[in-house]
Amino acid sequence: MKNIVLGVSGGIAAYKAVALARLLVEAGHEVHVVPTADALRFVGQPTWEAISRNPVTTSVHDDVPEVRHVALGQNADLVVVAPATANTLARMTAGLADDLLGTTLLATRAPVLVAPAMHTEMWQHPATQDNVAILRSRGVAVVGPESGRLTGNDSGPGRMSEPADIFERVQEMLADARAADVGGAAAPATGVVDTAKRSRGDLVGVRVLVTAGGTREPIDPVRFLGNRSSGRQGVAIAAAAADRGAEVVLLAANIDGAVLEAVSSDQAVRLVTVGTTAELDSTVHAAARGARVVIMAAAVADYRVAEVADQKIRKEDSPGAAPTLTLVENPDILVSLVRDRQDDQVIVGFAAETVDDEDELLERGRRKLARKGVDLLAVNAVGWSEGFESETNEVRVLDAEGDVVVATAGTKRAVADALLDAVVAELNLPESALGD
Ligand SMILES: Cc1cc2nc3c(=O)[nH]c(=O)nc-3n(C[C@H](O)[C@H](O)[C@H](O)COP(=O)(O)O)c2cc1C
Repeated sequence: MKNIVLGVSGGIAAYKAVALARLLVEAGHEVHVVPTADALRFVGQPTWEAISRNPVTTSVHDDVPEVRHVALGQNADLVVVAPATANTLARMTAGLADDLLGTTLLATRAPVLVAPAMHTEMWQHPATQDNVAILRSRGVAVVGPESGRLTGNDSGPGRMSEPADIFERVQEMLADARAADVGGAAAPATGVVDTAKRSRGDLVGVRVLVTAGGTREPIDPVRFLGNRSSGRQGVAIAAAAADRGAEVVLLAANIDGAVLEAVSSDQAVRLVTVGTTAELDSTVHAAARGARVVIMAAAVADYRVAEVADQKIRKEDSPGAAPTLTLVENPDILVSLVRDRQDDQVIVGFAAETVDDEDELLERGRRKLARKGVDLLAVNAVGWSEGFESETNEVRVLDAEGDVVVATAGTKRAVADALLDAVVAELNLPESALGD
């Protein structure tokens, strides 16, 4: 059970926040709803009190003996603002404290998640975009907005994420915070995650290129050779880097739209889609120019089909004889990235191995490290049920000397943050680059 403050501001999507409150209560959390005065014009106090089973007020002048204006924030394990109106985002950026939500947000040291919701024009206005960028750089996490039907007949980017998605993000953030607190399963073995540093936006101004997913090599117009990479780990890295203030380019190879939703409306993540290894190869080198960090999480096909058939290969064309596919080796993208590396660029590779034995896994990782010449190598065991497609991962990160600098297991988001902690250490940024 965690103490969650649910801030609600005055947009139509306030009605969807009722469903979010219910999900949080049903998950066993203690929920304190803090609406703005305008939010109460959309959904009234009795609804919030009935759903949250706690008293609800907007004013700093209620329950004064309990010092409620700071106590709610101080006691919170997480503050989520959904919907976050353009006005409330601006107030957060300015640090205004003219109502209970404002004081709570200033008093809290807990993770903060906002779910913006507004018309497309308001969302895309430079004022709103600047406000969101500033909030991100302070470590505020942002979910959505999605593109879709808005109030009235409009549609476009600005629709609040679905309550279930916001709820899922809340649960992930709580799991991350728990891991950091106790040095538990999702925390790096090398030490407790420095959440204070992370919340300062330790990648502000750093350009990060991430590749994710799995390349596919065509056999004929309808078939391909592929792999089971879902892209979840790479997408989680892109999202985590953006949350820490980085400008991110995500090269996504054949990733399901539902997986990409974690970043698709994220203004700090530029999404480029690729299909084959050749497409990834030609795109990644251009994108790597100007990137301070390159993280190659994509599962790249080692081989492609020598001759791709123009027409669908049909059984009738060679009755009784199965066709033979001749494969040729693809270029080694990681090696060429290391060869063309810019000064002080940090390059991170991934090695997916189908071995259970820890020592053997690390040994294979060290051999790959020596072959590729990367700065960090994330090694994980994959198999029928691990690594690929799953929501969790277990990773060892080796530095250039082959030493394990991170050993972590947990959600792919938690693994992403542990990996980025190692990247930040490798970047050796001056204190001034860590934001304020
Ligand atoms: C019907 C209606 C719907 C609105 N929907 C939104 C919205 O989705 N997002 C938004 O930023 N503002 C919206 N507004 C404007 C906000 O209510 C207004 O900016 C208000 O000052 C927000 O105050 P608050 O952020 O303190 O809750 C809407 C206003 C009306 C009348």
